[in-house]
Order: sequence, then C-alpha cells, then structure tokens
Amino acid sequence: MEKAVLRKLTLLCVICGLAGLALLGMTVVRDGKREWKHYQEEYRELLLKKISRDRNPAFYQRVAGMKPEIRQVVVGEWNEVERCTSCHLGIDDPLFAGAGQPFTAHPDPELLKKHPVEKFGCTICHGGQGLATTYAGASHKTIADWPVPMVTKGLMQSRCGVCHKDFEAIGADKLIKGRELFKEMHCAGCHKIDNQGGVVGPDLSAFADKDPGSFDYANLEGGHSKQAWVMEHFKNPKKVSPGSPMQLPALNDQQIECLSSYVLSLSQREFTRQYSARVRADFVPPGVDGIVPETELSATAEDEEGDK
Ligand code: HEC
Ligand code: HEC
Ligand code: HEC
Ligand code: HEC
Repeated sequence: MEKAVLRKLTLLCVICGLAGLALLGMTVVRDGKREWKHYQEEYRELLLKKISRDRNPAFYQRVAGMKPEIRQVVVGEWNEVERCTSCHLGIDDPLFAGAGQPFTAHPDPELLKKHPVEKFGCTICHGGQGLATTYAGASHKTIADWPVPMVTKGLMQSRCGVCHKDFEAIGADKLIKGRELFKEMHCAGCHKIDNQGGVVGPDLSAFADKDPGSFDYANLEGGHSKQAWVMEHFKNPKKVSPGSPMQLPALNDQQIECLSSYVLSLSQREFTRQYSARVRADFVPPGVDGIVPETELSATAEDEEGDK
C-alpha cells in the first residue's frame, strides 16, 4: 500500500478511537450523575453516621464499601419489577424514621410489616411505574405516557379495598364512608355493583380495573389520570362527560374523596392465597341496594339545587 494512504488510514483509526473514548467518557459521566446513584451515595454517608464503628466493625466496613447498585423487588403475582427501593433506601429501617426523602422510613411501619416490601413491593398500594429509576419516570407526578400515576394521599385507601373487602377489619374509614354515601345518594338507582342496582349508568363492579386509557380527558384540566377524572366527575359530571344524565347535589371535598376512594377500590381482581386478605368466616359484604327510579333521582337532585 502507498505510504500516503497508509498514513490517512492510521489517522482515521486514531480519530475513530478518540471519538469512541470520548463517547465512553460521556456515558461514564452521565451514569455517575444518575439520580439513584447520587441517592445511594448520600444514603451510605447517612448510614455510616448512624451506626457505630466500634460496636459492629464488620458491618461498618461493609457499609463503607457499599457500591451503588440497582435494588429491585420482583413480584411474580402481578408481573412487576420494582426499583422504588433504589432510592427509598431506608423505607423499612427504623434508624431512618424522620430522615429526609427519599430515605425516610415508612410513616406506617406496622402496615409495612403486614405487607413486607420483598413480597408486596410498593406499587400495589402506591401505583407509579416500578421499573423506573428516575423521580419523574416513577410517576410521582402524573406523566402522560404512564397510566398509573402514584396514588394521591387522600385516595390511598382505594388500594386497600382491592384486596380487603372487609373495610371495618382494617379501619378503612374513607371506604366505609364512601360506601355509605353511595347508599344515601341512591347511586345504585343507576349503577350496578355486584349485581345490585340499576342500568342507566355503567356497572361499577370492576371500576378499579378499568383501563385509564379508556377515559375521555378532553374536558379535564391538569393531568390525564384516572384519579383526577373521577374526582372531577364527582364535582361536575356534565363538565367531564358532556350530556351525562348523572346529577349530584354539590359535594364537599371530603365526600368526593370518600366516594372516589370507594369506586376506585371496586375490583374483580383475584389473588392467589398468599396475597388474599383474610375475612371472617361470617363476613357478608354489605349490599348497596336501595333502588330509586331514575326520574325521581333527577328530581331530587334538582330540588336540592333549587333549595339553595
Ligand atoms: C430516583 C429516585 C426515586 C425513585 C426510583 C422513586 N422515588 Fe419516590 N421519591 C423520591 C424523592 C426524591 C422523593 C421526595 C420528593 C419531594 O419531597 O419533593 C420521593 C417521594 C415519594 C413519595 C412521597 C410523596 C411524594 O410524591 O412526594 C412516595 C409515596 C414515593 N416517593 C413513592 C415511590 C414509589 C412507589 C416508587 C416506585 C414506583 C418511587 N417512589 C420511586 C425519589 C424516588
Ligand atoms: C400495604 C400498602 C402499602 C405498601 C406495600 C407501601 N405503602 Fe407507602 N404508604 C401506604 C399508606 C396507606 C401511606 C399513607 C400513610 C400515612 O399517611 O400515614 C403510605 C405512605 C408512604 C409515604 C409517605 C407519603 C407522604 O406523602 O408523605 C412514602 C414515602 C411511602 N409510603 C413509600 C413507600 C415505598 C417506597 C414503598 C415500597 C417499599 C411503600 N410505601 C409500600 C401504604 C403502603
Ligand atoms: C395485594 C393485596 C393487599 C393490599 C393492596 C393490601 N393488603 Fe392488607 N393484607 C393483605 C394480606 C395478604 C394480608 C395478610 C393476611 C391477612 O391478615 O389478611 C394483609 C394484612 C393486613 C392487615 C393485618 C390484618 C390482621 O388481621 O392482622 C391490615 C391491618 C391490613 N392488611 C391493612 C391494609 C391497608 C390499610 C391497606 C391499604 C393501605 C392494605 N392492607 C393493602 C393483602 C393486601
Ligand atoms: C341518574 C342516573 C345516575 C345517578 C343517580 C348516578 N350516576 Fe354515575 N353515571 C351515570 C351515567 C349515565 C354515567 C355515564 C356517563 C358519565 O360518564 O357521566 C355515569 C358515570 C359514572 C362513573 C364513571 C363510570 C365509568 O365506567 O366511566 C362513576 C364512577 C359514577 N358514575 C359513579 C356514581 C356515583 C358514586 C353516584 C352516586 C353518588 C352516581 N354515579 C350517581 C348515571 C348516574
């Protein structure tokens, strides 16, 4: 080969090599900046401050040598891989009670003991995107392309109801109140739950399982989340579903939260035995009947509005 060509080829190789190295370097830098790694380093420093080197030198050494690594819980029952604990590192550690987020221990440690992290993960109660390793990706706030945003604080009990049908047994006050309101406001005149009720509106027996993508968000401000849809729909059914015959008297925020928690807990999901909550042998789910003809329902709602 001619010398000039050879020289050009060598130069090309060197340039390619350098470009490759630069790219590799950029990935390393970006990787080092990953949120979860940063949190794990912070966590290690915090933990080192909390444990005593003298009392347990071996443990201390182990913590000091901790390298950032993705932590995950695999839940076969609902096909989830969850990496929430890659950031929420102190979630079941009493040493971290009162530590700042994302390290703080769970506010309800007793609840977590009954539903151990390695068996239940987090999303069955909290929603969110388990696989994500970023704050935004985990859907702490509603994101457009993930249908299950994290459950807002006021609606947490909706998730308990997916497994626990005996609301009294777990003291789920919002679900109890929501079920009462459902009766008092004669919702069953138009809606069926577990084969009781009318047929003017959709059957709500599996409302929790309904695909968030099947709702119309066109008339909703803010995030495209099913939770937001439900709350807004209770505030003003006709605004969210134009032409809806559903009429309700004005509800206060607490009533909306209770009714929303209740309908969002209505699920037909079945779990294997290890995930099925126990119920008393004599437990009979309270009915929701009390059917009132539709014409009367609308009249009642209008009368109440006229009274104000
Ligand atoms: C990249 C790290 C990271 C991951 C992954 C992560 N979180 Fe968080 N999380 C945070 C941080 C940081 C906060 C505190 C935010 C604040 O205070 O503004 C937080 C806050 C929370 C809160 C308190 C309420 C809120 O929104 O501020 C809950 C509940 C929560 N996370 C649950 C989860 C669940 C469930 C998952 C998995 C699906 C998860 N997190 C995954 C970093 C993370
Ligand atoms: C059995 C259901 C359940 C499981 C499983 C569960 N949580 Fe919770 N979590 C709750 C409930 C209920 C609350 C609200 C408790 C309260 O306010 O006292 C809560 C509260 C929290 C909060 C505080 C929220 C705030 O607004 O301050 C954080 C953070 C949190 N959970 C993170 C997690 C993470 C991370 C996991 C998984 C490792 C997890 N939880 C697993 C039910 C659960
Ligand atoms: C995936 C299903 C599932 C979800 C979701 C769930 N639980 Fe449970 N829960 C269980 C199972 C399984 C047990 C253990 C068996 C039992 O005691 O019923 C349990 C146990 C309990 C117990 C102890 C009962 C006892 O007799 O000792 C309480 C209290 C409880 N759960 C409350 C809650 C609350 C509150 C929530 C919502 C924040 C919730 N659970 C969400 C499945 C679930
Ligand atoms: C006069 C009949 C009527 C009454 C009373 C009524 N609804 Fe409805 N509801 C409907 C109709 C029709 C729809 C479907 C149109 C829409 O989205 O508004 C609906 C929609 C819904 C939806 C959304 C269902 C879905 O699958 O999209 C929920 C949840 C709901 N109603 C709950 C309630 C609750 C809770 C009450 C009592 C507080 C109630 N409704 C009272 C007629 C009624």
